[in-house]
Amino acid sequence: MKNYDTIRHVKGESQFVDDILVPEGLLYAAVSCSEVAHGEIINIDISEALKVEGVKIILTAKDIPGENQIGGIIPDEELFASDKVDFIGQPIAVVIAETQLIAQEAARKIKIDINKLPVITDPREAYKAGNLIVPPRTFNLGDVENTWELCDHIVEGKVESGGQEHLYLETQGAFAYPVEGGGIKIVSSTQSPTAVQRVTARILNLPMHKVEVDVLRLGGAFGGKEDQATAWAAMAGMASYKLFKPVKLILPRQQDMIMTGKRHPYSSDFKIGLTNDGKILAFETTFYQNAGAAADLSPAVLERTLFHCTNSYYIPNVKATAISCKTNLPPNTAFRGFGGPQGMFVIESAIFKAAEQMGIDPAEIQKKNLLDEGDEFPYGQKTEKCHAKRAWNRAEDKYAVNKIKGRIKEFNLKNDIYKKGVAFMPICFGISFTNTSMNQASALVHVYTDGSISVSTAAVEMGQGVNEKIRQVVANSFSVNIDRVKTETANTSRIANTSPTAASSSADLNGKATEHACRNILARLKNEAAEILNASSASHIHIKDEFIYQDNIKTDLTWNELIKISHLKRVNLSSHAFYATPGIHFDKEKEKGKPFAYHVYGTAIIEATVDCLRGIYEIDSVKVIHDFGKSFSPLVDLGQAEGAIMQGLGWMTIEEVIYDENGKLLTDALSTYKVPDIHFTPDVQVEFLEDSENPFGIFKSKAIGEPPLMYGIGGYFAIMNAIKEFRPDVEFNISAPITPEKVLLNLYSKVDEKIPI
Ligand code: MTE
Ligand code: HPA
Ligand code: MOS
Repeated sequence: MKNYDTIRHVKGESQFVDDILVPEGLLYAAVSCSEVAHGEIINIDISEALKVEGVKIILTAKDIPGENQIGGIIPDEELFASDKVDFIGQPIAVVIAETQLIAQEAARKIKIDINKLPVITDPREAYKAGNLIVPPRTFNLGDVENTWELCDHIVEGKVESGGQEHLYLETQGAFAYPVEGGGIKIVSSTQSPTAVQRVTARILNLPMHKVEVDVLRLGGAFGGKEDQATAWAAMAGMASYKLFKPVKLILPRQQDMIMTGKRHPYSSDFKIGLTNDGKILAFETTFYQNAGAAADLSPAVLERTLFHCTNSYYIPNVKATAISCKTNLPPNTAFRGFGGPQGMFVIESAIFKAAEQMGIDPAEIQKKNLLDEGDEFPYGQKTEKCHAKRAWNRAEDKYAVNKIKGRIKEFNLKNDIYKKGVAFMPICFGISFTNTSMNQASALVHVYTDGSISVSTAAVEMGQGVNEKIRQVVANSFSVNIDRVKTETANTSRIANTSPTAASSSADLNGKATEHACRNILARLKNEAAEILNASSASHIHIKDEFIYQDNIKTDLTWNELIKISHLKRVNLSSHAFYATPGIHFDKEKEKGKPFAYHVYGTAIIEATVDCLRGIYEIDSVKVIHDFGKSFSPLVDLGQAEGAIMQGLGWMTIEEVIYDENGKLLTDALSTYKVPDIHFTPDVQVEFLEDSENPFGIFKSKAIGEPPLMYGIGGYFAIMNAIKEFRPDVEFNISAPITPEKVLLNLYSKVDEKIPI
């Protein structure tokens, strides 16, 4: 099964917000933002900007008819800064003009006087100053304090991980136009149509039913449009509402990079205790999350860091504390993995450091501590159908790990400057929104009288292939050709009160809702068929490949005829259905519960070669055994795995977000922010783990969107292991991304030491 959009994408026919045929009189928006990371606004002077010919209106905080508030989890973020700015790139005004160039020119002429205040960009500094987004949270299992004395080895350390720019191909944008009765319709590039609707309604002081949000598809999002697509839609909506004209707002790439938040950088401490034979007895960790200037999704991201702080290992005694620190950077936000990768990087670093001290291979510790059936996570849930060990063992077998190790040893003996390293990366990722209430979805299915079918859900297609999966659910449910099925836009008037397309759960949630809707229609159709065929009840009827079967015997009655007759007999050919993940719950007081419907497992083996003279490196290969459940869209799933692996490797290696001490983003273009390209891409092999049917996923599959990203963490340690071959004498700090510059500094910063070549 290919992605539904593939051909349209390749032919350039797919529509994004900026491609929509626009009505006459369209106006364009440009945003004016703070160039200071922290300060009090003394004055906003728009007089020069207003003089630019073609400018229609300039809107600031005081023009907002409703509430100047876009915060999702906590109401702590203004749409337009009113009297204080907290980060560079914070919107202060929007200019609406006849062309985009005019709007941008005018935006530059807005003069903003700001009384500067001290800037904090470092999360630990923010913590010391008492600047927190929410109170810290701690997950506890067993008794860490009384376990240290039982450990043969105790290792402590510090771990840094960097931010990550989403770099969706389509930048943030929205197109708004007025509709009858004082309402607004918004076409938005968002993962969360309902969030856009709610925020725009709040800004305009309208009931939600007067704001209709429509989403056709996104040119990528990766979490960056879960909570951060709302501002631009609200601005376009507000301008459109005031002027009674269509308005389009598309962020230019550089503005997008400067104004929007990214993956959260973390600074973390760990202490790990082990026995002589490598069993981990205790793990204590504190995460300092760099949240940026407002909450956005940070509290939820923080929570997922705690959920994944022991990755794929059973550790009997754990104490993990997470602190969300408020800094003068753009509010950081959801990014594929949603805090999970940051947590998993710390435990992997702790294992790496422990192995270093014990003089053994980190893989020995990893393997010895893998999760087993019935093991308890620090949050109280126990593993069910745990595949951690099976995936690891299969990876060792299938990829002949001993041979790999032998080959690498030989290479390293023969080469002075080039060194190779290999690392294992097991993963375990929980599927469900960690906020239980968000695990709900609905679907609306129509069968038309010609036998074609349309399906609406809140699932937003952003390249991950969810539309294809939803179509498969419909086609399989009715046993009709998939060409009969069309997925409609995600639209708040058709599907209301939606959760964002996120948490890798959209195929499960929306797919299950779709399945329910199809079942409702199918039950009515079977009743009708029973009547037509004089069967005693619908239980004698089934549909297969567009034919109706009676007692397993094919009849002449076809799908098309059955639909036609059913319609004439006034059978309802439409259904709306709802799904809420059963059995999940979480108690935030106790920090215990069963937050996840299930877990996804897997193991990757990553090889890298480092040029130890120049610091440059290549990731040679990524060999994976991944638990897809019983995949029903193998090609789509494989694409997701490969893409996520590349994104994870990028985060760990060459993608470096740098802010200076004044909170200014230095990596605000593709010349300074490097992402993996086709030349970076290693040989990636992914095998589907066998016998992994998942009763909790759609068609027994497992969610795929985020989990494989975390295989990328192995890339970091493959490079570290290669460097250690060159300089076994040096202890390296753990600080991701490990850019070539950092490799070089690690290798040669202690210049007085003898360099072994
Ligand atoms: N794949 C593509 N091509 N583009 C994207 O923006 N987003 C990722 C992942 N895969 C993304 C993607 C993220 S962050 C998530 S949570 C999931 O897709 C969401 O979609 P799903 O629930 O359908 O897996
Ligand atoms: N994952 C992704 N996005 C989310 C989550 C989550 O657990 N919770 C809220 N938004
Ligand atoms: Mo994905 S970070 O849950 O949008």
